[in-house]
Amino acid sequence: MKGVVLAGGLGTRLLPMTRVTNKHLLPVFDRPMIYYPLQQLTSADIDDILVVTGGDHAGDFLKALRNGQDFGLDHLRYAYQEGEGGIAAALALAEDFAGGEPIVVILGDNLFEDSLAPLIHEFQRNPIGAMLLLKEVDDPDRFGVAAVEGDRVVSIIEKPSEPETNLAVTGCYMYDSRVFDVIRGLTPSERNELEITDVNNQYIAWQEMRHIKLKGWWTDAGTRPSLHHAANLVAESRENPVLSGRRVVGELESSGGA
Ligand code: G1P
Repeated sequence: MKGVVLAGGLGTRLLPMTRVTNKHLLPVFDRPMIYYPLQQLTSADIDDILVVTGGDHAGDFLKALRNGQDFGLDHLRYAYQEGEGGIAAALALAEDFAGGEPIVVILGDNLFEDSLAPLIHEFQRNPIGAMLLLKEVDDPDRFGVAAVEGDRVVSIIEKPSEPETNLAVTGCYMYDSRVFDVIRGLTPSERNELEITDVNNQYIAWQEMRHIKLKGWWTDAGTRPSLHHAANLVAESRENPVLSGRRVVGELESSGGA
């Protein structure tokens, strides 16, 4: 299974900080934002990873991440998204990289308290269809929201003004290789983007969408309040091995000393 981190966009909600670098390289407590999704992938033993970026500061990713050695990786791959086509348009750039394998996708501004490794491994055991991670939140109108019947997700509604549930769709998605055909069939939304929610609704229509409700905290870091909140959450969780990247640092230390 391969990993994709989506780190494009212009970061306008975080101006003026994003005048000089990409949103996903801004610090969240003690490291660049994109370290957190990368640490999640490497903690699940995903070692073939593509970073999709865009905008004026794409070169900064090479400076910050190089070949991924800080994460114990031999290499990282990069793709460049022209303009603001939406999350699904960014994901379309991963088709050749995926090469027919299932993928796990994490939005570059999403942080999760718990290791996603057990959930990623569960999908790997039966990598057909798609899987979503849901989290109960107080402000569901900011996110894609799951409508449920019993324990079944029956649709996802993107940023509803009157959410039916408080179950937000987090920015970690797992898909089989049909995801790229689904994206090819999408039409742009009202905000002229290809929406990841439309991709997920297709898998729901096929009845091939699984989901898991997360217990630990989850936050995005793409607005001023959420960036501040994310830093506080990380600061309070310093002993957490995935957030601190200790496993990775430990590997680096031992390989450095050998
Ligand atoms: C995107 C998705 C949304 C999801 C959210 C998670 O929203 O469109 O469905 O809940 O990421 O962070 P955006 O951050 O682009 O507003």
